[in-house]
Amino acid sequence: MVKAQIIDQRQRGEFEAIVVRQAHIGTDHQTIILRLNGAGGAAFAQAQPGQFVQLACRDIHNPRSVAPLLRRPLSIAGIRITTDQTEVQFIFRLRGPGTQWLGHRREGELVNLLGPLGRGFRLPESGEQSVLLLGGGIGLPPMFFLADVLRAQGFNQVVGFAAARSRESLTATFERDTYNTTRCTEPQLVLEEFNRSSTPCIIATDDGSLGCKGSVVAASEAFLDRQPKEYKPLVCACGPQGMLRATAELAEKRDLACQVCLEEYMACGIGVCQSCVTRLRNGEDDKEGSYKLVCSHGPVFDARRVVWD
Ligand SMILES: Cc1cc2nc3c(=O)[nH]c(=O)nc-3n(C[C@H](O)[C@H](O)[C@H](O)COP(=O)(O)OP(=O)(O)OC[C@H]3O[C@@H](n4cnc5c(N)ncnc54)[C@H](O)[C@@H]3O)c2cc1C
Ligand code: FES
Repeated sequence: MVKAQIIDQRQRGEFEAIVVRQAHIGTDHQTIILRLNGAGGAAFAQAQPGQFVQLACRDIHNPRSVAPLLRRPLSIAGIRITTDQTEVQFIFRLRGPGTQWLGHRREGELVNLLGPLGRGFRLPESGEQSVLLLGGGIGLPPMFFLADVLRAQGFNQVVGFAAARSRESLTATFERDTYNTTRCTEPQLVLEEFNRSSTPCIIATDDGSLGCKGSVVAASEAFLDRQPKEYKPLVCACGPQGMLRATAELAEKRDLACQVCLEEYMACGIGVCQSCVTRLRNGEDDKEGSYKLVCSHGPVFDARRVVWD
């Protein structure tokens, strides 16, 4: 059973946030922490794991700053709430003009954002439920926020799985000193972002340069094989489509509940432009499904409903 998710969409809005911190993660990722006060702070204090923002990656108050025109979606990687303000963390890969612009913002500068957007992960009713968090590439950051919230709500049987192409492309801060390479198939407290919720994790890289060699789905299947028969965790996943599809198939095969966070290409992020459609089944007999908007009906869906193209 999962808790009914109540999101007050009126809480979302367009806000100015102040850059508090910017730091590099590995060779091609950065983390940025933005501070929001007032209505923005209150809106983000309600944010749920799996929700995202649409960031304006230019100075929208300067009429000559016109590119990139479209906002860029980023998942919330963490939230820190104090009495009168909320700090929101993002972790992003430096790719094109949007993320390059964001990567050059310095402490004290303003960033305009829309959010929190979408519908996030639905948490289980009982803190007794075990949960596996699978994150691949830029799908890993929302898993950190989910781990924080699960821990705060008393879930203490949570295991993370972090996937990357190689050691350098891991979307997280790796704590080398605490890592035992020979026990790479066992969950360990080695990623700073998972450690803040005391969530142990298994790392998998495509090239084997860190952790288990191979896919995160293979690593999680090997982990499941070592657990007792009655172990039935909820599986939550975010990452590339191939990884999500393989995760959904694994969950189906083992009769595990599974929620996936889809990161489709998005333009508006608020249900207006129709650029983010995906097909969802309305029941077991509905093989074809019907189109839904990832930005506003999701991005988190029950994996059994997704029609994988
Ligand atoms: C809901 C959602 C949450 C996201 N969360 C994160 C996050 O937490 N961290 C992060 O680094 N990225 C995240 N992304 C992807 C991020 O939005 C893109 O990387 C970003 O828009 C690239 O903008 P850019 O101007 O830097 O590069 P662009 O020039 O716009 O694109 C650079 C390259 O990235 C590709 N790209 C753009 N969008 C996506 C996408 N959605 N999926 C795969 N490839 C894409 C483009 O095809 C191009 O090859 C998320 C996307 C969505 C839809
Ligand atoms: S991104 Fe515009 S409708 Fe979803």
